[in-house]
Amino acid sequence: MKLFTLTLVLFISLVDVALAQNDPYEGLIPAPVSLVKATGTFTFGKLTVVKADKPKDKAVELFKDFLVNNRGLANKVIKYSPTTKSGGTSVILTSRGADKLPAEAYKLTITPRKITVIGKGAGLFYGIQTLIQLFPVDKTVAANLPCMVINDEPRFGYRGMMLDVSRHFFNVAQVKKVIDLMAAYKLNNFHWHLVDGQGWRIEIKKYPKLTEIGGTRQQTMFGTNRDWPDGQPYTGFYTQDEIRDVVKYAAERYINIVPEIEMPAHSDAALRAYPELMCTPDTSVKNPARTNGLYCPTEETFTFLENVLTEVMALFPSKYIHIGGDEANKQPWKESAFCQALMKQLNLKDEKELQSYFIQRMEKFINSKGRSIIGWDEILEGGLAPNATVMSWTGEQGGIAAAQQKHNVIMTPQTTGLYFDHYQSRSPLEPVSFGRYAEFSETYKYEPIPKVLTADERKYIVGLQGNLWTEFVPTVAKLQYQILPRIFALSEIAWSKPENKDYQSFSEVRLAKHFERLDAMHYNYRVPTAFEVIDTMMIGAQFTMAPKTVVPGARIVYTLNGRDPVDTDLGYESPITFNIPAGEKRVFKAVVITPSGRRSLPTSTIMYNQAPVAAANYTGNSAGLKFTLIKGNFTAPDQLDYAPKDSAGIAKTLETSEFRKTRPASGIIYEGYISIPADGVYNFSAAAYNDTQLFIDDNKIADNEGALSLFKGYHKIKIKYFYTAPVPGTRRRGNPAIRIYMIAPGTMDKKLITGDVLYN
Ligand code: ACM
Repeated sequence: MKLFTLTLVLFISLVDVALAQNDPYEGLIPAPVSLVKATGTFTFGKLTVVKADKPKDKAVELFKDFLVNNRGLANKVIKYSPTTKSGGTSVILTSRGADKLPAEAYKLTITPRKITVIGKGAGLFYGIQTLIQLFPVDKTVAANLPCMVINDEPRFGYRGMMLDVSRHFFNVAQVKKVIDLMAAYKLNNFHWHLVDGQGWRIEIKKYPKLTEIGGTRQQTMFGTNRDWPDGQPYTGFYTQDEIRDVVKYAAERYINIVPEIEMPAHSDAALRAYPELMCTPDTSVKNPARTNGLYCPTEETFTFLENVLTEVMALFPSKYIHIGGDEANKQPWKESAFCQALMKQLNLKDEKELQSYFIQRMEKFINSKGRSIIGWDEILEGGLAPNATVMSWTGEQGGIAAAQQKHNVIMTPQTTGLYFDHYQSRSPLEPVSFGRYAEFSETYKYEPIPKVLTADERKYIVGLQGNLWTEFVPTVAKLQYQILPRIFALSEIAWSKPENKDYQSFSEVRLAKHFERLDAMHYNYRVPTAFEVIDTMMIGAQFTMAPKTVVPGARIVYTLNGRDPVDTDLGYESPITFNIPAGEKRVFKAVVITPSGRRSLPTSTIMYNQAPVAAANYTGNSAGLKFTLIKGNFTAPDQLDYAPKDSAGIAKTLETSEFRKTRPASGIIYEGYISIPADGVYNFSAAAYNDTQLFIDDNKIADNEGALSLFKGYHKIKIKYFYTAPVPGTRRRGNPAIRIYMIAPGTMDKKLITGDVLYN
């Protein structure tokens, strides 16, 4: 299985050059609708004249800035007149001929002496962005642009990126760097998650305590399983002038900003400032661990929220105003005599309908100002507000239901690679992130229009969005790491037609130039690892290693002694064949180091010339594994060896929900035998949290993925696993249950190991 993967990798690296030459999209991300190559090149030099309908147009100014900052050029920019002929080379930026183009569309033509970009407004802007991408990144290299004709338009009208600035605050300059990236990759809606339990980040003149009190929490970070509270107050907010500045900056780049003011839950920051808006005013709300407080649906609350939204709408011209609506724990409403009386009076059958009443009231107010609401998919519960757009995050189901009810939908399911707070690999060296994996390949593969929708219902899927929640994003370096390179995949699935999607050209060829651009613009990004599988064990006598990188100019260094490779280790040049003596192992570890010094996480491959392991002498037939619970709140499986035992017994399945009822956090060691049906090489993998350990016959299965040659019969199995408690007020639900898979020899089927092959 793994041998097959590596052979494939080798094959790909040999065809890279050919792929680059045949790249149908000339390195562009997102892929355009149509690109027809022509012969010849256009040489952009300092005498090239830029001619624009409006030389002072912001898109034209941005092109000028690009020439100055990225090419060191100060080309003449003059007013375009179609009747004036001139010698030399020129770039024409015009809306003439754009009348029939759809919204945001453009046409870009490159001939040996003339480049023409035709588009109106956003269309012209996107045409210029495409043109910029065609320039070489290195400014000392002559800018020879190949001749071609591009016709392009977006698939979706809403192409979004969400940034949470409540959990961690990012200043105006840092936010603008995100907006720059969005603009370069043709995303057009910046969803600004301005308030949440952990901090209110927007100045509201009428309610100064929102930022004075709600803008500060008692410490930098809390509620993760690896960081502890540090007692350092954490604070930050945007003044209204700063907000106006960012709104203008975004608008100049054809990006609308959708502000989000959360209600009725995720509101502790506001409630720390104005506890009278709770059903039972509670000073323990000052406790920073409480972050999912709920407004009481009183007239006082509605007046407060209307006043807040009035100021918000004055700052943001967006048609959409996001009012949250997610994850409301309605217990305070259940316990409130006021809410119960209100429900009776309004004839509402439960608290879900009360939430619906809350949202519908706010919608009415927002509609009365000519705007529309967006809410997370929980606003479907208890009845959807009449004009609401639904942001489908818990999965696709909310989006499907909303489209079936003829409501607009923005897809951002946390299950499909659009949650950029998730881990980007299974390596335990990955910086602490949210407990799921979403590699950019997953983002890329996501198709936002669910097949179950009819042709008419599909029209309601107006777009999609990537979300960066920042519980685990304390620095701007981490922010950029989380979104790069995933934002490139988002760009392509939001803009490009499905028939233009091409993962091989995207991941093997086109990404290259964009990494180079990120380096030139000093963005921090996650360097893709040398092998996609972080850590594996393969069985055989001979292996050929062909690690690879798409980052231009990057080196791959490797070791054979198990150490993490450093700059001074051997540099990889061409495929290396290893012959492994019988019974021995070698480990090939590789790290990618980019020209700017960024490095990938190490990947390791254990090459094991293993003689098949004889079956154990087990004659029992007692189903299930022995389990031992270990007391503690663990962060790594090795800690289980040093902690006290709690209790032990027999587990018929690997399901842990029973344990979780009495122990919010625990370690578990499972031990016993697995029945192997026939001689051969078996591939094992564990899907749980990144730090689970799986042993077969005392061999540790590397990073939960690897092979072993086994004789038919019973073999020892051991699993070291831990789970942590959900964190109140965050989406941290605790580690998911463990699942162990096996691939039998000669098959590609990954089968879940269930209780029927486990014995003790
Ligand atoms: C969400 O992720 N709670 C919208």
